[in-house]
Amino acid sequence: MTKWAKMDIKTELEIKKMEKAGELLASILSELCTLCVPGISTKQLDEIAENLVLDNNALPTFKGYHGYPATICSSVNDVIIHGIPTSAKLKSGDILSIDMGLTLEGWIADSALTIPIGKVSAEAMKLIEVTQTSLYRGLELAKPGFRLFDISRAIQNYVEDNGYSVVRDFVGHGVGRNLHEDPSIPNFIPPLTSIYRNIKLKPGMTLAIEPMVNQGTHDVKIMKDRWTVRTRDNKLSAHFEHSIAICKDKTVILTHRKDDKINREL
Ligand code: MF3
Ligand code: CO
Repeated sequence: MTKWAKMDIKTELEIKKMEKAGELLASILSELCTLCVPGISTKQLDEIAENLVLDNNALPTFKGYHGYPATICSSVNDVIIHGIPTSAKLKSGDILSIDMGLTLEGWIADSALTIPIGKVSAEAMKLIEVTQTSLYRGLELAKPGFRLFDISRAIQNYVEDNGYSVVRDFVGHGVGRNLHEDPSIPNFIPPLTSIYRNIKLKPGMTLAIEPMVNQGTHDVKIMKDRWTVRTRDNKLSAHFEHSIAICKDKTVILTHRKDDKINREL
């Protein structure tokens, strides 16, 4: 029988500290968004991101994590996640997923979003919107009284009702002093025999929920750099992620941005 790590429950004071980390990350991601125009490279965005993190007495959580070489993950078009920043310039019509984590006073915030570069196709825009809304559908159920797979089901149903697929090979996670804590959070209902557990959601849990949504099939391939994850069929993919805290009487979106189309407190 596998012995599972006890679900980490944070105190109100600890959640306050995670809110600070989340607010800083949200403001940096908003600033990066304004710079996402044709002609800029993901390497430039990464340098700017790193400087903003360090200027605010925080640390780039991803840099050095299992050897990851940058502050942001920058995933263009058919790259699902973990794209390493490069000097190639973004073009009008690209979609760019930026995923970023920072550590402030020992507490981590983790968030991602997909941004249209210049003018993108209606199909690409719809993929972005469905992915963001699927995250919101999940977040709305991230409350005491619900179970983890209620979130998974809401995300999967919304995505599949719109004709897209959710990635199976990568999932969301608990977050706190560590980037990846229990529980793992699938964006789909896993088979009964899977490693995932349908735990009860309780006050004090802090979670990073992150649907990755493909235009075609959910299958992925990993590139030779051993980081970049692409869609197997080379169709587009989008990714949205928020870190949240489940409290007694509300759920707080720790990485809420002003442009989010959902309230910060649910
Ligand atoms: N948001 C991703 C995650 O939670 C990013 C991790 S990238 C890594 O897993 F470089 F840090 F591995
Ligand atoms: Co994450």
